[in-house]
Amino acid sequence: MEFKVNNEKCVHCGKCINDCMGHALKFDENQIPVFDATKCIKCQHCLAICPTGALSICGKNPEESDLPDNLPEASKVLNLIKTRRSYRHYKYENVDRDLMEKLKNMLNWTPTGVNNHRLHFSFIEDIEVMDDFRSYTNGKMLRVLTNPALKHLAGKFERYKNAFLKGHDIIFRGAPHMVVVSSPVDAPCADIDPVIALSYFELYAQSLGIGTCWCGIAYSVIKMFPELCEHLEIPEGYKVGYAMLFGMPDVKYKRATQPEKFEMISVKKGIKNSGVADKLKRYFWNFAK
Ligand SMILES: Cc1cc2nc3c(=O)[nH]c(=O)nc-3n(C[C@H](O)[C@H](O)[C@H](O)COP(=O)(O)O)c2cc1C
Repeated sequence: MEFKVNNEKCVHCGKCINDCMGHALKFDENQIPVFDATKCIKCQHCLAICPTGALSICGKNPEESDLPDNLPEASKVLNLIKTRRSYRHYKYENVDRDLMEKLKNMLNWTPTGVNNHRLHFSFIEDIEVMDDFRSYTNGKMLRVLTNPALKHLAGKFERYKNAFLKGHDIIFRGAPHMVVVSSPVDAPCADIDPVIALSYFELYAQSLGIGTCWCGIAYSVIKMFPELCEHLEIPEGYKVGYAMLFGMPDVKYKRATQPEKFEMISVKKGIKNSGVADKLKRYFWNFAK
């Protein structure tokens, strides 16, 4: 892996060494950082923190990095979070190509555990492709719901059965697009990385005026019908992480919701060892599926 220091720019401050998660950097006898590629997780913190832009790693030129200016005020970010909604009514049209590219490009900055950075995104970018996917999947679901021998596959979908049989697009909510994120089964944080990516995706999309909806039902059906994974070109050795619908909204929310408050506690000092029964309960809950 390539790591270069511009000796004329390096001010020997050691910030890169101090911030390196894997302890891959140390000073040589001339107080210039030297690099151990075997310990590097390619997070580029050394490039990001260098006050003079003296470091290049993985062939990246520090001058091509965006700068942390022009950031939104905290109150605007909070307002975006509060007024974000799950959209279930979309215009029957494709999202503008430039917006689509912006959304896709943003995803490259989503964090992954140990900077594993091997997520796979399957985008349905064309409404006709989505309609094809929708009608195939709805056909499969219809067979599950109407064949008593397949009843066990319906699971939580049973509750939507009546609306589905009346022709409502319960799975895909009439959305023109969908993104499905998958991650390698051996990734250190395979289950959480896709969810983080979609959280970023949702907020950025909504800041651009694009509606989104987390789609647990699509996630379940994609897992249930392997041909859908094949069709989405999910690579071998990857598992489906989650699915999100999106498109230009056909409804407008005039105000934020007023959610019930979560329980939040402030942890105190002084850990006490628990008894065996309590420990077993905790193991059970923490490792329950
Ligand atoms: C993990 C997850 C899965 C969801 N799955 C679905 C789904 O399959 N279909 C759907 O219409 N909404 C789905 N939703 C949307 C929730 O119903 C929605 O977030 C909730 O009702 C609160 O509404 P809001 O997102 O507008 O605040 C899902 C949300 C989350 C976070």
